[in-house]
Amino acid sequence: MLRRLHPDQPDSFEFTPANLAWAEGQISKYPEGRQASAIIPLLWRAQEQHGWLTRPAIEYVAAMLDLAYIRALEVATFYFMFQLQPVGSVAHIQICGTTSCMICGAEDLMAICKEKIAEKPHQLSADGKFSWEEVECLGSCSNAPMAQIGKDYYEDLTADSFTGLLDKLAAGETPVPGPQNGRYAAEPLGGVTTLKDYEKGRDTYNASARLAVDIGDTVKRIDGTEVPLLTPWRDGASAPAKAAEETAAEAPGIQPAGLDRARDGQADDLKMIKGIGPALETLCNRLGFYHFDQIADWSADEIAWVDQNLEGFKGRVTRDEWVAQAKLLASGGETEFARRVKKGEVYDD
Ligand code: FES
Repeated sequence: MLRRLHPDQPDSFEFTPANLAWAEGQISKYPEGRQASAIIPLLWRAQEQHGWLTRPAIEYVAAMLDLAYIRALEVATFYFMFQLQPVGSVAHIQICGTTSCMICGAEDLMAICKEKIAEKPHQLSADGKFSWEEVECLGSCSNAPMAQIGKDYYEDLTADSFTGLLDKLAAGETPVPGPQNGRYAAEPLGGVTTLKDYEKGRDTYNASARLAVDIGDTVKRIDGTEVPLLTPWRDGASAPAKAAEETAAEAPGIQPAGLDRARDGQADDLKMIKGIGPALETLCNRLGFYHFDQIADWSADEIAWVDQNLEGFKGRVTRDEWVAQAKLLASGGETEFARRVKKGEVYDD
């Protein structure tokens, strides 16, 4: 397939402060003179920021790495993971069209894409929400046919289940990834025949689907607020942490509604959120935040406000991903860190 740059290009590109700090952290992993090795993560982050990889973004990354533009263009046009044209604002659907999937019904899925999204791959749907393409084997052949949507795999698809997925995505929902036919993972279609004891105690979802459900962001693009890239070899603190502080300093934000006291006098142990120690927990309580579900509901503006008002801890909400952790804890889930706190391995009570 001929991979060319799209005829309509934006005028410019630059990383957001958080993404710039992340990119600088990536570059710092490589020895002097080898910074060009960071090209794939940087191009990928540029794509995540904008939605697709534009010419100004490729030029920007080339300049950051002190590379000739043609070198960056070669990489961008070689790898199919780089989208060189606009993609759907909700999701870009990648249908596996290799042998197992093709035998098991990939053509039906592509027919639905043609009908519901656009006649040709890489075209936007009329409402701009979706685009699609056929891709090579995604390594999930035992669950054929399958599609990658955002970061997750949707497997064991049929025409009906795939249509249902598209409808859910269009309605703003986040469908649960993994097998769509009731299968747990890649066990025989007739059910597990060995290791049955293990089956009894298992979670509703397999590990990949569980993680996706807990995070709930299947089609959300990376935006710089994820787990910080720690670069202790660069003057102590992580660059993203500094960027988070700078961003917090710039954005006034909106103060989230707080409570006068904990509901039923039972505050959650906010120290189960990694990054909130006893001092920050006291400060959170003073600001009216006692429960995981309060933190889980913070909008971007509210995060900005809290980040800016954490006195000596500015930027910590973003840096330590409080909201993602709080969502998981509020829904009854648990992080490895929370487990250690519960066991008394982190704080002396
Ligand atoms: S053939 Fe489709 S995932 Fe391998």
